Amino acid sequence: MSVLLQVEGLTRRFGGLVAVDALSFSIEPGEVVGLLGPNGSGKTTVLNLLSGALKADAGSIAFKGQSISGSAVHTIARLGVARTFQLVRPLASLSCHDNVLTGLAFGRSRAWGTAARATADALLDRVGLGRARDTLPGELTYIDQKRLELARALALQPDLLLLDEWLAGLNPTELEEGIALIRSLSGQGITILLVEHVMDAIRSLCGRLLVMNTGRLIASGPPQQVLADPEVVRAYLGDDGDA
Ligand SMILES: Nc1ncnc2c1ncn2[C@@H]1O[C@H](COP(=O)(O)OP(=O)(O)OP(=O)(O)O)[C@@H](O)[C@H]1O
Ligand SMILES: [Mg+2]
Repeated sequence: MSVLLQVEGLTRRFGGLVAVDALSFSIEPGEVVGLLGPNGSGKTTVLNLLSGALKADAGSIAFKGQSISGSAVHTIARLGVARTFQLVRPLASLSCHDNVLTGLAFGRSRAWGTAARATADALLDRVGLGRARDTLPGELTYIDQKRLELARALALQPDLLLLDEWLAGLNPTELEEGIALIRSLSGQGITILLVEHVMDAIRSLCGRLLVMNTGRLIASGPPQQVLADPEVVRAYLGDDGDA
């Protein structure tokens, strides 16, 4: 299989605003692709469309050769697409361990019981949260909430992981750990599409970048080439001077 995800003419409007405007791109298995763009350029909307949280107004999405345009969130998740949210959304009344258990129960493995509990522990260890097994999400630091969010996504055993600014707001040490963790997930064979503003992370992780501006794809290619593209520089400097 040479293409894991194929997006053609994807369009989503909010009233008069075209948040995603005839977007086409594809992702091959094993790639780590960065989705960039100034604030409000449509990146999160793309992830919402890919994961089924939003329906497209036009265009098509195929995953593993199968159309997932208009499919329900749980159908897409069971096919192997998992995502994290820009604003973390744990189940507040459940421990970290039980948060991950729900991902296992409702995900592809539909695992429950002793085996699932062991897997949940392994996933918490994997993201560096083993010590917080019995903690409630509300008691976690920001970075640890993000780790939990990732563990829940991994519980779905994704082939394609969509990360929405997962590295944002981390201190330099945490950022290094986070980059290493994402790299190890890629090494394990998970294909990754990451929305990110942190340039160090983008440069060290991504083999290819897609850049959006006002809903449209304005550049695509290797990081060095794309980051030097005058239209990309203009988009960032024009709308978001500190990016
Ligand atoms: N549910 C919604 N209803 C109305 N407008 C929306 C909705 N979601 C997003 N938008 C608008 O669509 C545009 C794209 O938003 P989106 O969140 O996809 O941008 P983004 O690239 O993820 O931005 P950021 O970098 O700030 O996270 C913005 O103008 C936003 O205000
Ligand atoms: Mg966003």
